[in-house]
Amino acid sequence: MWQLGATEENTILRAEKIVREFKVGSSETVRALNGVDVEVEKGTLTILRGRSGSGKTTLINILGALDKPTSGSVMFGGEDITQLSEQKRDDIRRYKMAFVFQSVALIAGMTAYENVEFGLRLAKFSPQERTERAKEALEQVGLTKRMYHRPSEMSGGEQQRVAIARAIAHRPQIVFADEPTAELDTATGLHVVKLFKELVSQQQMTIVMTTHDPSMIDIADKVYTLEDGEIVE
Ligand SMILES: Nc1ncnc2c1ncn2[C@@H]1O[C@H](COP(=O)(O)OP(=O)(O)O)[C@@H](O)[C@H]1O
Ligand SMILES: [Mg+2]
Repeated sequence: MWQLGATEENTILRAEKIVREFKVGSSETVRALNGVDVEVEKGTLTILRGRSGSGKTTLINILGALDKPTSGSVMFGGEDITQLSEQKRDDIRRYKMAFVFQSVALIAGMTAYENVEFGLRLAKFSPQERTERAKEALEQVGLTKRMYHRPSEMSGGEQQRVAIARAIAHRPQIVFADEPTAELDTATGLHVVKLFKELVSQQQMTIVMTTHDPSMIDIADKVYTLEDGEIVE
């Protein structure tokens, strides 16, 4: 399945020479990313850090096939996903990838279990698979006991864990999280990052997250620092 060389079989995602320009107004362009290389190994937690405006969101959106670069390649599953049709990119996003965002956006009238199960409905799993996977995902984030609570009955950190369970319930190959801790206090944010680390070390998941918070980076297996659209270390 992997068309990369044998020495690179552990690489799940490799972005090379990523440039992303945005048109602003009629003639001006902003270069948000200027030749970025990123390599993600299977079963690791990778952090993209940098100040606001450094290019983190632009980069993670390109890695997760939510956006296309102006130039450069993103190898995933043996192919350059920047060259695929929108339909194929949709399928890869839906079945092989997962996304956790800054704002949690759970459905207020639904319990934690229903929120997770609902996500699986959209991905067309059978009722039995939905039950099984929803319970498994809630267990993975340590929320089995809160399964039948509604968001209003949970803390911000617990709500973010439900959002993570919802994201991973279809057993994605890679999880992308753009500033998942930005709306949490430092201690709660640290818990979320520690949970990511557990999912990586105990469940062999692969997670890429962005943060502007330097206190998070010790936990990562690999850190890329962005400055003005370039990797600096
Ligand atoms: N859609 C867009 N149109 C124009 N400029 C953009 C757009 N998205 C991002 N940028 C610019 O690209 C740079 C990087 O933005 P972003 O990736 O959001 O940074 P970060 O997530 O690190 O805060 C910023 O200068 C931002 O203004
Ligand atoms: Mg951002």
